[in-house]
Amino acid sequence: MDKLLIQGGVPLTGEIAISGAKNAALPILCACLLTSEPMHLTNVPRLKDISTMLRLIEQMGVTVSRDGANGLVVDSRGLDKPLAPYDMVKTMRASILVLGPLLARYGEARVSLPGGCAIGARPVEQHIRGLQAMGAEIHVEQGYIQAKAGGAGKRSLSGTCVVTDMVTVTGTENLMMAAVLAKGETIIENAAREPEVVDLANCLVSMGAQISGAGTDKIRIRGVKRLHGATHRIMADRIETGTYLCAAAASGGSVRLTGTSAAYLDAVVDKLLDAGCDIVAEREAIRLTAPSRLKAVSIRTSPYPAFPTDMQAQFMAINCVAEGSAVIRETIFENRFMHAVELIRLGADIRIDASNAMVTGVDRLEGATVMATDLRASASLVIAGLVAQGETLIDRIYHLDRGYEAIEEKLSQLGARVRRVR
Ligand code: EPU
Repeated sequence: MDKLLIQGGVPLTGEIAISGAKNAALPILCACLLTSEPMHLTNVPRLKDISTMLRLIEQMGVTVSRDGANGLVVDSRGLDKPLAPYDMVKTMRASILVLGPLLARYGEARVSLPGGCAIGARPVEQHIRGLQAMGAEIHVEQGYIQAKAGGAGKRSLSGTCVVTDMVTVTGTENLMMAAVLAKGETIIENAAREPEVVDLANCLVSMGAQISGAGTDKIRIRGVKRLHGATHRIMADRIETGTYLCAAAASGGSVRLTGTSAAYLDAVVDKLLDAGCDIVAEREAIRLTAPSRLKAVSIRTSPYPAFPTDMQAQFMAINCVAEGSAVIRETIFENRFMHAVELIRLGADIRIDASNAMVTGVDRLEGATVMATDLRASASLVIAGLVAQGETLIDRIYHLDRGYEAIEEKLSQLGARVRRVR
């Protein structure tokens, strides 16, 4: 199993390019199932989760070919096996995103029910309930979601109004993808407003879908008979962007991140400004210069546009070495503090009380061997390792490879002393 070895204490400086967003690319690859014409995608990040999704759709009969370093051509003409097997879903929960498109285009689907994961139980009943409201017949049998569109003889879903009980990102995406080929109008209320939902909607619109309101909590979709092929560029990864901003801030560095934008990062940028960083938003780049010592900043995670849960662990890491104390409140997932115990092994002062973490900054962290437990937890350990004195060895970095493209190369480009150990 690969490990990451970091020699801490080097302020990050220089420029790197930010990759395409994992959480936009995953639903958009599923949207390719909605048309029998080829889809041309650019800025697709090279990540473990993306290759898992490609394997998943390929075993359904879809053909995928590479087009340059980050381009893909996805051809779903041969789609003939609407199945997402347990082996794949258990390694990547986002596999559930094939459910809506398969029902819409193929009229049926058999998708393994995702189990819990390291950060929480993460049920998917909102996806199922919404699809049932659109007329799908769904039952769970031997761990699989068995779904059929409409009653006997009918092959399509019907538009309806769905109000989700909570804001769910992939739930909104699944319902939106199901609705684009449904009969009549679907309204999704309490919809997720995340920029990745908007990127998916933009891609669907370029395929001929009729969608309005994406980016608000009420999305209207008027079903069309068919969708056609299109070209779409995946948006920049706002969480990768935020992670490198935090790494530069914590290490006392100065970086410029290109191919990204501060537009989707207001809540994160505001907190970094509160921490004392100097940030300049350019049209397609962000520059950050860290102060001599960061100030501790409290955060509370919430759906977009509030502070993202996917940046919580990274802010815990920067608070570990900031001046003062901060309270971190996680409201989205019930078990997303697993990085705290690992940060404590590096010398951090963190007390956990249910969904609150009280972090008091210390003068220095010291390198140690730590274990990554999930994607963003791993990112917080990298940030801590970059500021810790001496050597930090991060075990189980396959979590990092799921969501950070070429992380050791990008960090090295910024001057970090980091090496993958096999
Ligand atoms: N929830 C339910 N029932 C449902 C759906 C959601 O109870 O049917 C709950 C979840 O358990 C959670 C909350 O609602 O407590 C929000 O979950 P959501 O459905 O929004 O999460 P998700 O769609 O499964 C996506 C991202 C996550 C990110 C969350 C929150 C993708 C592929 N994944 O997950 O990304 O943390 O939204 O923003 O888009 C990551 O990239 O590291 C990651 C975990």
